[in-house]
Amino acid sequence: MFITFEGIEGSGKTTQIKLLVPVLQAKGYDCVFTREPGATEIGKKIRAILLDASHTAMLPLTELLLYEADRAQHVHEVVKPALAANKVVVVDRFFDATTVYQGYARGFDLKLIEQIHHLVLGNLKPDLTMVLDLPVDLGLKRAWQRINSQSDLSEDRFEKEDVAFHEKVRQGYLALARAELERFRVIDASRDAEAVHRDIVDVVLSLHRQIFK
Ligand code: TMP
Repeated sequence: MFITFEGIEGSGKTTQIKLLVPVLQAKGYDCVFTREPGATEIGKKIRAILLDASHTAMLPLTELLLYEADRAQHVHEVVKPALAANKVVVVDRFFDATTVYQGYARGFDLKLIEQIHHLVLGNLKPDLTMVLDLPVDLGLKRAWQRINSQSDLSEDRFEKEDVAFHEKVRQGYLALARAELERFRVIDASRDAEAVHRDIVDVVLSLHRQIFK
């Protein structure tokens, strides 16, 4: 089973995945938790290039291709082998992030992005994509709190985008979710982490029952 988590900055994806994985493991599922960008040795280097706030000269096309390069490596090294071994794979951001950040927000043609995804992914698609949704001002407030509490400030390139950019990201995710009701679940992430966690566990366990009944 293949599950991806998506959402704007500060939506709490990483926190929620860290809460979900032990629950699944306690139920006996063999679970792999991974993320984009940066899940492989090569991917870690690509992540550092992508998120370095000093890289103000990076072309949108360079950015798009680096995310896809990271993904090609991630799918080959981590995702496909884990799915082939019947593991539950949980990923913090996947191809929908490119459709939304580079497509809806940066303005790349969505058809072009779809073609690149076909090249990188073939027919691979998540069974379930959770969109953790919340207002942009709340998300950014949380993201900045996190950044200010960290000593490493090298990864804040996207947090520096303006509110309109993040609003396009949010609306992009909601548009994708409306277009593909089967795969997406939109979770209200403005609530406290425990309430969000309970909803996520319900959704994942009921989907697992459906797939493996
Ligand atoms: P993270 O903060 O969830 O680790 O993600 C890193 C940043 O990369 C985040 O701001 C979203 C951005 N991103 C894209 O712009 N396109 C992509 O395809 C992915 C996977 C992430």
